[in-house]
Amino acid sequence: MKSLPILILSATIISVQCHIYRLPANVRPLRYLLTIEPNLTYVGWKPSQFWGDVHIELEILEDTQNVTLHATDIDIEESSVSVIGSGGEVGVKKTNKVKDDHAFIIQLEEPLLKNKFYNLTIGKFRGQMISNSRGLYKAHYDYKDQDRVVVVSHFEPTFARYAFPCFDEPHLKAKFVISLIRGRQYNSIANEALEFTEFLGGDRYKDTFKETPPMPTYAVAFAVSDFQSTRKLERHRILAQHDAFEKDELEYPLLMSVKILQTLEKYIGVNFTLSKMDTFAVPPGYFRHFAMENWGLITFQEDQLRCTNSSHPLSLTTITSYIAHEFAHQWFGNLVTHASWDYIWLSESFAAFFQYYITGMVQPQWRIMDQFVVNVVQQSFYDEQSQGAHPLNFRISRYGQFPPFHIMYQKGSSIVRMMSHFLTKDVFREALHNYILEKQFTNVVPDDLYKSVQKTVVKEGVEHLFGGMTFGDIMGTWDTFKGYPTVTVTRNYSSGNINIAQKSMTFGDEQVWKIPINYVISSKGVDFSKTTADLWLVDESTVLENMPTDGWVIVNKQHFGYYRVNYDLENWERLIQVLKSDKFETIHVLNRAQLINDAFYLTSLEKIPIDIPFRLAEYLVREKDYIPFAAFCNSLSNYASIYYGTTKEAEREYFLHHPLNNHIAEPEDDGYTRDYLIFREYIKAITANIRADLGKEEKPTDTYEQKILRSDIERHFPYYFE
Ligand SMILES: *[C@@H]1O[C@H](CO)[C@@H](O)[C@H](O)[C@H]1NC(C)=O
Ligand SMILES: *[C@@H]1O[C@H](CO)[C@@H](O)[C@H](O)[C@H]1NC(C)=O
Ligand SMILES: *[C@@H]1O[C@H](CO)[C@@H](O)[C@H](O)[C@H]1NC(C)=O
Ligand SMILES: *[C@@H]1O[C@H](CO)[C@@H](O)[C@H](O)[C@H]1NC(C)=O
Ligand SMILES: *[C@@H]1O[C@H](CO)[C@@H](O)[C@H](O)[C@H]1NC(C)=O
Ligand SMILES: *[C@@H]1O[C@H](CO)[C@@H](O)[C@H](O)[C@H]1NC(C)=O
Ligand SMILES: [Zn+2]
Repeated sequence: MKSLPILILSATIISVQCHIYRLPANVRPLRYLLTIEPNLTYVGWKPSQFWGDVHIELEILEDTQNVTLHATDIDIEESSVSVIGSGGEVGVKKTNKVKDDHAFIIQLEEPLLKNKFYNLTIGKFRGQMISNSRGLYKAHYDYKDQDRVVVVSHFEPTFARYAFPCFDEPHLKAKFVISLIRGRQYNSIANEALEFTEFLGGDRYKDTFKETPPMPTYAVAFAVSDFQSTRKLERHRILAQHDAFEKDELEYPLLMSVKILQTLEKYIGVNFTLSKMDTFAVPPGYFRHFAMENWGLITFQEDQLRCTNSSHPLSLTTITSYIAHEFAHQWFGNLVTHASWDYIWLSESFAAFFQYYITGMVQPQWRIMDQFVVNVVQQSFYDEQSQGAHPLNFRISRYGQFPPFHIMYQKGSSIVRMMSHFLTKDVFREALHNYILEKQFTNVVPDDLYKSVQKTVVKEGVEHLFGGMTFGDIMGTWDTFKGYPTVTVTRNYSSGNINIAQKSMTFGDEQVWKIPINYVISSKGVDFSKTTADLWLVDESTVLENMPTDGWVIVNKQHFGYYRVNYDLENWERLIQVLKSDKFETIHVLNRAQLINDAFYLTSLEKIPIDIPFRLAEYLVREKDYIPFAAFCNSLSNYASIYYGTTKEAEREYFLHHPLNNHIAEPEDDGYTRDYLIFREYIKAITANIRADLGKEEKPTDTYEQKILRSDIERHFPYYFE
């Protein structure tokens, strides 16, 4: 799933205070035959009804005299419940609902026996649909001045139970045969392709879809609408309201869908499992996520999907990358599923990584993996400070609770990117290929991933990449610690020793990560290309002996690692010297972005003097690349004190003596502090060249990067673009 940031608020409010309830482990569903008939008559905001029946084939794991499944806000006709085994019908003594547990319990006259198979039928149930984007829900749109209704599902994480009685936990995977009953003017879709349609008399048609492979309930999806569909391009179609076709706004997403699925198949080396891949565009305002990865049937918020080739590059980037995110879930989530929601990062963090990585493969000129560093890694540092630091493995302790999005997405995908670097591209890809092949159709916990990667590493003979540890040893720190480490590099300019120490700036000493460290020591040759670990920092500190004392040092090549870096002041000075020379491009563009962002952060904690980031960023007058500017923009949100007039003594002192102070006339009384006015002059000065270069108006000859850089600068510094 890819969620709108605003959801963070509503999700916390919704999370009701009831305990977490897990189904007993005595029964396992193997196959569902599910039929649903929604009523699409327009009744405005009032609830509409749907009817259903479900037949579930069960395997009994422990003798039991009752079967418990999930059902919430569903009316079940008790007399329609039956259980049949090989020995005939098993009498139902009674059924009852436990509302707080979302449970429906069927008590039987005699026990169901271990290792035997039974069929449970719930022949008639009924539920209600409103426009709340959970379970089976309604959305409205206008066509030719008529109100139209569409019905569509959203089940992640625990909303399948609002649509039909089921075993609604991600490890209880089963096959699904879905049937939908609809009127003649409507069409229906589900996870798999349509198999046949029966005419039931009157205006009722029953569409039955091919059986799916074993899958989690949260990835089940279906919809009934009178939407139009694009042509079928290979395995892909997009369904949307008529308006999108009149404006021809689905061609780009359709072409991208084809490319992205093929690219993922080739990259992972395991083909997409289902026979088709549909996308259903939910009318704007009726879906509170950007998109959802239901297997074979992505749902997308319509206005996040519609575009043409000439849409703004930022929209095209968002659309392409969200398609890549949801498609990546077809493997990470649908085919290989987290065993519990505590480990949802195993699905989300990989989807959020491939969202960028695969987009980078289909649109290489966007340099999206470079954007990843500023938009995801640096954003994640910021979010862990401002929205709360959490580990990837998240203990869910009550119903409705979910790991924060910035942890699953930003932090998780930053850590996945780090793996891809310290494993090397080829080993990373081979390891994921083997992991998906080995674990397909099953459920996983982090240890399954780690063991699988370790096997590949041994098979490829590259254990040296881990410096004597296993992949599990390393990841055991990154998946359980909150926040991120800051690595401090202190050079001794007489002995040549370099001390490398780690610390969490916010959580003190109790967390000691296993950190992959690599470095460039300028006088030994400048090469930023190799991003495996030169050493593993597994203690609080370590020493590199007898290193050259001239030149500069940079740690964390290409900002591959999920950590910040601080240096001794002399090394900062030397870095400022290179950056402010015409040789600044000898420092990798991602490290230029890193130096800016780390320096501003460190000064906000008073770890380094304020003039360091400010003098360092002055080099931007020569910079033409989008990425360091984006890092600079990010840094300002980190360094907010200046906006709020809460500058500290040292900062005021710095600004007072800043050469730009002379450029400012006595401040008019418009409420700004003098510090702030100097700061504004500073930004004007360092962005003067790039602003002149770009110009205020978009030009037809602009490259992608020029367009996004212009919009970034406009967004952050609107009043400088005169
Ligand atoms: C569908 O809902 C409408 C409006 O509530 C109702 O009049 C109609 O009878 C329903 N149709 C069926 C088949 O239940
Ligand atoms: C269901 O059956 C199990 C095992 O037979 C038993 O321990 C449990 O108490 C029963 N629960 C209910 C609600 O009947
Ligand atoms: C359960 O139903 C399936 C059809 O869905 C059938 O093939 C199977 O024989 C039934 N099993 C029992 C134990 O009745
Ligand atoms: C995947 O699909 C491609 C193209 O349809 C086919 O050539 C290839 O053999 C398939 N690979 C596997 C592993 O099934
Ligand atoms: C739109 O862009 C796609 C991919 O970049 C290209 O294949 C297609 O031909 C373009 N369509 C038009 C109408 O320019
Ligand atoms: C630097 O190294 C020299 C020579 O080994 C030593 O005497 C000195 O104490 C070291 N300085 C620091 C700050 O550790
Ligand atoms: Zn997702």
